[in-house]
Amino acid sequence: MTRHFLRDDDLTQAEQTEILDLAIELKKDRFSERPLAGPQTVAVIFDKSSTRTRVSFAVGVADLGGVPLIISTANSQLGGKETAADTARVLERQVAAIVWRTFAQAGLEEMAAGTKVPVVNGLSDDFHPCQLLADLLTIREHGGALAGRIVTFIGDGASNMAQSYLLAGATAGMHVRIASPDEYAPQEAVVADATRVAETTGGSVTLFNDPVEAVTGADVVVTDTWVSMGKEEEKALRLRRLGAYRVDEQLMALAHPDALFLHCLPADRGYEVTADVIDGRQSVIWDEAENRLHAQKALLVWLLARA
Ligand code: CP
Ligand code: NVA
Repeated sequence: MTRHFLRDDDLTQAEQTEILDLAIELKKDRFSERPLAGPQTVAVIFDKSSTRTRVSFAVGVADLGGVPLIISTANSQLGGKETAADTARVLERQVAAIVWRTFAQAGLEEMAAGTKVPVVNGLSDDFHPCQLLADLLTIREHGGALAGRIVTFIGDGASNMAQSYLLAGATAGMHVRIASPDEYAPQEAVVADATRVAETTGGSVTLFNDPVEAVTGADVVVTDTWVSMGKEEEKALRLRRLGAYRVDEQLMALAHPDALFLHCLPADRGYEVTADVIDGRQSVIWDEAENRLHAQKALLVWLLARA
C-alpha cells in the first residue's frame, strides 16, 4: 500500500528513526541513493510562498537522480478550478511523488486518497512534518539521542510548527512542552493524538501559559513566527497577544546551559525572537535549514523504495 507523509504521526518511532539514520548517511554521501534515476519527476506544488521548501525539494529530487516540477497554484488549474482528487489522478500517471504546500489539511487527505503515488505535506495550516524531520536531525547532530529530551516550543501553539512538534516530538519519545496564550493553544485533537503516541514512546506532552515555567530546564527551545501565512490580517492582534512570548536571552538563560535554539525560518527578528538569541551561540538555525535537504531526501528514498 502506498505510504503518504501528511502529518508527523504517519511514521512510527522506528520509521522516524530509520529516516533520520538515512538522512545522516545521505548528508555524508550526498549522491549515494538514486531512486529517481530515469529521470523520474516529482511534482512540488505551492499554494503559499516558500524559499527553503522549494529549494530543498528541487535540489533533493535532483540529487536523487530525478527532475523536480515546481508548480505554483496561481497558474495551475488546482485551487478552485479543479479538485485535489482529480489533480492527483492526472499527476499519478506521470510523476513518482507529489509534494504539496497548502492551507487545509483536508486537501492533502483528499489528494492522498485519490492517488497511488506518495503525497508529502510541504506545510499545511495544521502541520509542517518535513520541517520536523530536519529539526529532529539537527537536534540529533548537536545533542545526541532524542528520547527523553525536553523540547519547549514558545509562542503560537496553534501553529503548524507547534502542532508538528507535539506529534513528531512525542513520536521520538521527547518531552514536549508548548507555552502559549489560551487563544493560541494547540487543537485538542492534536494534543490527544500526541499524548496517545507519547504513552507508547516514553515521551510526554504538557501545555503551559507561562513561558518561564515551560522553558526551565529545557534541552531545546523553539519558536516560530507569530503571523503564519494566511493569518496576515490578524497581525496587530497577534503581536499584542503574543508579546509576552518573545524568546530573549533572559528566557534562554532558564533553559539548560547547553540548550539549542531552533527556528524553522523565516524569522521576524525582534518579535518572536531577539537578534542576540537567533544569532547567538546556542542557535543552530543554519544547520536546521540545510537539514531540510538531507531529511527530505531520506524521506523520499524511504517512501519510494523502502516503505
Ligand atoms: N521553513 C520553511 O518551510 O521555509 P520556507 O517557507 O521558505 O519554505
Ligand atoms: N508557521 C509558519 C511556518 C513558515 C515556514 C507559517 O505557516 O507561515
